[in-house]
Amino acid sequence: MSIPDVTELTLEEKASLTSGASFWHTKSVDRVGVPAIMVTDGPHGLRKQREGGDHLGIGDSVPATCFPPAVGLGSSWDIDLVHRVGEALGTETSIENVGVLLGPGINIKRSPLCGRNFEYLSEDPIVSGVLGAAIVRGIQSKGVGTSLKHFAANNQENDRMRSSSDVDPRPLREIYLRGFQRVVEDAQPWTVMCSYNRINGVYASEDPWLLTRVLRDEWGFEGLVVSDWGAVNERVPGLAAGMDLEMPSSNGVTDAQIVAAVRDGSLVESAVDVAAGRVLDLVRKATEGAGAVAGPLDVDAHHALAREAAGRSIVLLKNDGDLLPLAKDAKIAVIGEFAEKPRYQGAGSSMINPTRLDSALEEIRALTAGEVAYAQGFSNALEVADEQTSALRDEAVAAASVSDVVVLFLGLPARLESEGYDREDIDLPAAQLHLVDAVLAANPNTVVVLSNGGVVALPFADRVPAILEAWLLGQAGGAATADVLFGDVNPSAKLTETIPMRLEDTPAFLDFPGEFSHTRYGEGLFVGYRWYDARRLEVAFPFGHGLSYTTFSYTDAAAQVDANGDVEVTVAVTNTGDRAGREVVQVYTSLNGSSVQRAPRELKAFASVALEPGETQVVTLTVRRKDLAYWDIRPGRWVVEGGEYTIDVAASSRDIRSSVTVAVEGDVVSLPLSRTSSMGEVLSHPIAGPVVQAAIAQMMGGLDESAASIMPEGVDMSKMMESFPIGRIGMMGALAGDGAGTGPEMIDDLLAMANAAQRD
Ligand code: BGC
Repeated sequence: MSIPDVTELTLEEKASLTSGASFWHTKSVDRVGVPAIMVTDGPHGLRKQREGGDHLGIGDSVPATCFPPAVGLGSSWDIDLVHRVGEALGTETSIENVGVLLGPGINIKRSPLCGRNFEYLSEDPIVSGVLGAAIVRGIQSKGVGTSLKHFAANNQENDRMRSSSDVDPRPLREIYLRGFQRVVEDAQPWTVMCSYNRINGVYASEDPWLLTRVLRDEWGFEGLVVSDWGAVNERVPGLAAGMDLEMPSSNGVTDAQIVAAVRDGSLVESAVDVAAGRVLDLVRKATEGAGAVAGPLDVDAHHALAREAAGRSIVLLKNDGDLLPLAKDAKIAVIGEFAEKPRYQGAGSSMINPTRLDSALEEIRALTAGEVAYAQGFSNALEVADEQTSALRDEAVAAASVSDVVVLFLGLPARLESEGYDREDIDLPAAQLHLVDAVLAANPNTVVVLSNGGVVALPFADRVPAILEAWLLGQAGGAATADVLFGDVNPSAKLTETIPMRLEDTPAFLDFPGEFSHTRYGEGLFVGYRWYDARRLEVAFPFGHGLSYTTFSYTDAAAQVDANGDVEVTVAVTNTGDRAGREVVQVYTSLNGSSVQRAPRELKAFASVALEPGETQVVTLTVRRKDLAYWDIRPGRWVVEGGEYTIDVAASSRDIRSSVTVAVEGDVVSLPLSRTSSMGEVLSHPIAGPVVQAAIAQMMGGLDESAASIMPEGVDMSKMMESFPIGRIGMMGALAGDGAGTGPEMIDDLLAMANAAQRD
């Protein structure tokens, strides 16, 4: 089918294309043969509303494989695995004839309280960007599109449709936009979804700076911008700003506004052409890609992939005395409601109707030859009488006391983690914390398995010998948990977010969720581990941490700058244990004596490597030169500062295995001099510097001896003068008793000469 060019459409037809026909469809233009396409959530499975289903399709969507939500999948740090899951998502999308899957979500986990953290990948932009690009590539390889969301700085749910994220330029660029930039530049998602919130006071859906200057002019985005569902504030300015497709339908109201604006001259028709043209491009891509994958869906194969991905998402936080893996003939007490009724995804628009659902209890029973007792332990119901809580606890203690080992499933009740609102604390319910103490007293051989979409405080971490952070793992999480418990899968996941000791320690604690619809990002660049490291705070488990049933050694780390200016890091990693495993190798950089504020170390590259027992592999990791750059607020651009960078090769952000240094040549930042340029800046200028140096020497010569002598010994006059604006230097002339002084004209002439020489 050939999709017409935008020039063949009337103004009304073009305007009609810029908003949806329904909740999930774009509009058709039958006269010229433009079909409607369907878009649907996303992100960790397909949520396609059944014909005649409920309005949002949350309760009644076509069964689809529920892969681990981003909180789990991201913990794999495995680009290849994430790509394969993306391919499977693309396959299911294509089979169901959907043009665009609404994901991935890659917002930064600024606070553990964000109700939607389960849908996001990390507190770090490189992890979010690299893995986000892998998902996009995987999905789009099947002839369907993605929607990179929620663009941008949508880091809380509270007041999300109005709140302004007030972020300074450096953190905005270096933390909150960097991941989006990476995905756009590396993977060209078919669409980008603008968020509900405002950024520094401007709605994302009508921000020309965000949607056009940054996204298109700087990053080269070629696709279409779609609004989050209901994110449009004022449609006409939004269209002019670069917000192409409003979703869902506005019942024609905003289309008419667009037509009227063109007619009264307040909107140029070319803006409508551009947006409608992009909708046509999207429809073209979707129709060309349609049918790329033939059905029916191989439910078993995708369930198996969901199981593999879930196994790779489980983080072994601690394993004292090698309590794990469990012997298959051990007498096991499984305790906790989550073992029987899994929490496998978060609430809201991303809820998938799974093709099947494993429970950990059944899967543990299936894998073991031993006896498995089960006790509910606690109730996740809204209202639970104290007597019931005690009875459940007593029953659990009884089961624990007659078993070799206890597997205790704890976690957050589903109602605590949802799109649309945030959490109020990071605590597990009190009944669960009491249960841990009672169970430990009855049987110290206790393994805790956690089910949660956002991090929780672990006040028992020192007392429990083994902890698995099992996040929300999708439909095969139960089987995957059993695989890891018994060692059929050797855990290899690592934390993409820090587990803090207390909520009060977290970076955004004092600025979350803001007030009067403004949230000040007061912690600036210091998000996640950047904060805990800079403040030297103790954490429960650091960013990048995760154990294995085997061990790894790192040797021969080296770094060099390659022909592209990127830093190539190599390290030999050896599996020093007796079982096969995977290690996630991380590279962090820092620059001693940097002229700008920086975190003590920042993640720049990572790799997941599979190793047989005794095997060594040399792993090569590339730190892109552009990822070393900071956002320089003076010229408003990325700048790589020159210097001797420290390259930490690490098993976690707090387990540095080897450090090397590499000299990186910096970018030249030549800023024009002005009267407000400081003496320091002028003195370091190649042209103006020597002239001013000579003038100062002359002036200082004229200074009265007694004036100089009142200064305490060692006071550095030149340092004092460093920040003195050159425009005020005339005053110094007066001080020197130099009647002629250094007049403003002389200074202006000097600055003009220096600036002209620099331009040449
Ligand atoms: C969510 C998006 C989602 C959309 C469609 C919005 O409320 O923020 O992530 O894709 O609804 O369901």
